Order: sequence, then structure tokens, then C-alpha cells
Amino acid sequence: MTDPDRPLRLDAPREEALEHVAKLVAEAWRSFDRPRPEEPPLDERLRAILQAGLPDAPVSVHEALDDAARAMDESIAQPRPRYFAFIGSSGLEIGALGDLLAATYDMNLAVDARAATVLEQQAVRWVGEFIGYPAANGAFTSGGTISNMTALAAARERALPGSRAAGLGGLRPAVYASAEVHYSITRAVELLGIGSDRLRDVPIDAEHRMRPDLLAEAIDRDIAGGVTPVAVVATAGTTLTGAIDPLAPIAEICEARGIWFHVDGAYGLPAAAVVPDRFAGVERADSVSVDAHKWLYVPKACSVALVRERDALSQTFAHEQGYLPHQQHELHAADITLEYSRPLRALKLWLAFRAHGAAQFREAIGRNLAEAQLLHRSAAGRPDFETFDAPPHLSIVPIRHVPAHVAALDAHNQALAEAIQADGRVYLASALIEGAVWLRPCFVNYRTTDDDVMAILDVAAELGERIEKEGR
Ligand SMILES: Cc1ncc(COP(=O)(O)O)c(C=O)c1O
Repeated sequence: MTDPDRPLRLDAPREEALEHVAKLVAEAWRSFDRPRPEEPPLDERLRAILQAGLPDAPVSVHEALDDAARAMDESIAQPRPRYFAFIGSSGLEIGALGDLLAATYDMNLAVDARAATVLEQQAVRWVGEFIGYPAANGAFTSGGTISNMTALAAARERALPGSRAAGLGGLRPAVYASAEVHYSITRAVELLGIGSDRLRDVPIDAEHRMRPDLLAEAIDRDIAGGVTPVAVVATAGTTLTGAIDPLAPIAEICEARGIWFHVDGAYGLPAAAVVPDRFAGVERADSVSVDAHKWLYVPKACSVALVRERDALSQTFAHEQGYLPHQQHELHAADITLEYSRPLRALKLWLAFRAHGAAQFREAIGRNLAEAQLLHRSAAGRPDFETFDAPPHLSIVPIRHVPAHVAALDAHNQALAEAIQADGRVYLASALIEGAVWLRPCFVNYRTTDDDVMAILDVAAELGERIEKEGR
């Protein structure tokens, strides 16, 4: 069917292939509307396909698409309404359509892409407006990991001007973050040559928030000892418990000492659009990270690094290259980003804000916050579950199954987390919090309903009791 003189053409009319994809996508969306009773295992046909070597000859595009869809259906898809593990995502429908459009045009945001470049800058401003952060500049990245790295690279150049060229030989930099900071910060300081030994763990309070008094002490001790503070990283929504470090007091400490203040809001910052008081002080940060692929619901990969000072990113990343002359454009996007070739990740969020409006986003986030309160209240009201005393800061709710006759609660909850994943009615992961094993549901999906929330307790209690009986 394929024409040897015209390689890489589809063997079916492309409109037909597109209709086929549209059908597969619509089926997937319908299946995400409701919870499914189990997660199907890999079937034999798919297993065989996934073991095959590189094919030299083609199969028909229809067959290949059906096999791809089957592989997707037999995978753990985060958009399902009862996916509560880690920090999930929703694959927002308009976002998925945006990805198809962006991939079709496949522009490169490294250099000026005309309308797409302006669109990205507008989307950066919209994210700033949404969360209440006065962004002067920013860029879309592949995730919180790269957004954090981008921000800390700018902080390093501010604290140690010229270090991007001269390196850090002989210098003694340090970065400060709470003991529960996401390990993307640890990786960033490693890759930036600061070294994870110089990432100071600032102790946390009973609600898992950074202690500003101990932060100030650590910084002042370092300064007295000849160390250069590069940045303080506050987390606005920690990955483990959703705690929000006290941003205003931390801003105060940074401003008094002239230290770069970064807020890692990869998970939590979108909630600043709904409960701004909890994030007071974020507007004083030099930089923030926000993952749109977490709590702004769009498909991966879509994060934003925002900075308050316009030139901070170009001072860190700009280069003069023969193949990238600056005569025509003041700056190329690659002058403010770590990546060079870069897809138009902004399109899915831009489309989503236009197609839904900011108000619907606030509504969806507000519902997720309410779901977390519902689970906390319901678990706290049952004798067979334990929760934290304080209500959830955001949408992560650690719970533990505590049946009367089980002494080894950590082993019990670990076995329960594994049983829940094998069972498949709800999808949860365990987490180690202060040395103890908890189940750690997180609500960041606009499809989740109150019934889905309550299913967590029903399924956990049912499987937990079974494990407890088997252990007797
Ligand atoms: C607080 C925080 N920062 C950074 C990250 C890393 O983000 P990404 O996975 O998008 O690289 C995460 C991921 O969960 C996170 O929770």
C-alpha cells in the first residue's frame, strides 16, 4: 500500500486516521468519566507486541493505532477519577486537543516563532495573574524539576555574579530549604555545582512547615562562617503532606539579607487563586515554579518558571552564537531557558484558560480542597482510621488504617497499600511520614466526585480487614 517514492506517508487517508484517533480518544474520555472496577492486566497479544524487536516493515496505521490504544488502556492512567497516588493529573480534554495542535505545527520555541512566542508570553502572564504573582518574565518548562533548576540557576548567578562562566571553585555557597523539600531541589543544587551537602535542611514544625526562626539562625551562622547564601527555597504545598512553608516570614528574612527567595509551588501554588491568604508573601518571591500538569489539570509536560525581575533569566542563560544572531530579535526564548529546542507547551494551558475561563479553574481547585476536607473529616470520625489532627493544608490527606488488633501498623499499612494497588478499584500509594507508613491520597483531578473520595475509606477498610483476618 505504501509508495516507495513517498516514504512516511500513511497507508490510509489521513482524515480516516484522524477519525480513528478521534474515536479512540472519545472512548478514553468516556471511560474516564466513571471509575472502573479494576485495572486490567496486560493481555497476551499486547505482551507479545511489547516484546518484539524493531519492525522493518509496517503494519497498517489502523492496526498500529488500535494496539497503541490497547497499551494505553492497560496502563495506569492518572486522569481516572479514583487515581489518588503521588500527585496525579487529569489530562484535561481541551489540553489534550491543544497538544495535538501544537505537535502538528511542531514549532520550536527556542527562537522567535512569531504568534506562538507571543502566546507563550501571554500564558506566562496569565499564570502569574491567576496565582497572584507579579511575574516580569518566565517560560514554560517540562516540569517542576526543570522550573526549580531554572530558578536556582538564576539565584546562583545573582549571588555569585560570573559564576556561570568561572565556576564555583573556591566559593562556599549554600541553599536553604525545609527538611521536606522535593528532591528536585537536591538534584538542582547537585547539577549547579553547589552540592547537596550544601543544601541546609531547615527543621519543620509540628505541621511540617519550615521554622523561620531556625532558617534565620542557619543563614546567619553560615554568613559568619564565610559561606554565601545563594537562595532560600520555600515549598508552597510539600509533596509529602501539602504543607505550605510560612512565605511572608521567609520573605522577610531573605529581603533583610539580600538572598534570592524561590517558592516551589509546583504542586500547591494554583490553590493561591482560591485561598490566597495561605500563600501570603508569595508576591515577594524572586522566582516561583508552578506545574500546570498537576493542579491546573492539563496533560504533561507543562510547568512554568516565573521571575520577578525581567533580566534575571537572560543574565543566567543568554549566549551569543553565530547561528543565533541577535540583530533581529532582542532575545531568543533560548536566552531565558535551560532547554534549546522546546515545544509550544503553553498552548494547552492558553487554550484551557480561554475555553474554561479562570473562574472554572478556581471552582475545580475549590472542589479538590473540599474533597480533602471531606476525607479528613470522614476518616477522623471512624475508629478504624487515623488522620493528622490538623485539617489538610491543601489536598493531600495522609490516613492510616488502625484496626483494633493490629500492633504492627506500619507493616499492616504497607501491605494494605500494596493490596489496594493490586485490587485496582482505587489507586493509592503509601508514604513514609516521620518514619511511619501512611496511605497518602492526593486530590488534583477535576473528575473526582465525593463518592470517589468515600470509596477510599470503603476499599481500604474492606481490604485492611481482610489482611488483618489473614494475619490472625
Ligand atoms: C513540590 C514539588 N516540586 C517539584 C516537583 C517535581 O515536578 P515534576 O515532576 O513536574 O518535575 C514535584 C513533583 O511532585 C513537587 O511535588
